[in-house]
Amino acid sequence: MKLVWTKELSAGNAVIDSDHKNLIAVVNGIERAIRARDYSVISQAFELLEGWLCVHFANEEKIARAVKFDFSKHKRAQQYSLKELQCLRNELVGKKGIWCESAIEHYAHFLRRWMTEHIVKIDMPMKPMLQTLDYKFWPGWKEGETNYAAGHVASLYLQLSTHQCHAPPRLMDSAMPEFS
Ligand SMILES: [Fe+2]
Repeated sequence: MKLVWTKELSAGNAVIDSDHKNLIAVVNGIERAIRARDYSVISQAFELLEGWLCVHFANEEKIARAVKFDFSKHKRAQQYSLKELQCLRNELVGKKGIWCESAIEHYAHFLRRWMTEHIVKIDMPMKPMLQTLDYKFWPGWKEGETNYAAGHVASLYLQLSTHQCHAPPRLMDSAMPEFS
């Protein structure tokens, strides 16, 4: 059962929501690879996810600092979240695709819970503050200007998916980031 981004998961900011949509797409791709016991793409898929996460965490921090949101607790949660992911990656890679059915269900459940908790528990506390701003808010951005964050993220998406990680197309099941 793949994860789907819904409006209830909106953090109240276009850049953050777009990042989350793309992270969900990569997480769904990893789940598909696990269910297909496609060990060959697991490492690359996690590289893609971790690459996206680093960009996403930096985006969140930049926005939080601009709106003077206390980011210290958020940052600790992000670091813990990244470590959890690295543990899962090590476990999956260590077993080299020899994953029994119950392990597959465990990994899939873990990934979905990990992604959902990141949005609901870690990011949602920022929402009330973000909702007082334009949905497309980005530090330095003004109404009527191009949102350079959008271009930056889209460009990074391309780099991660085609140049650095060479992620197989089957891992990517969503379109480019949306900033509408
Ligand atoms: Fe987030």
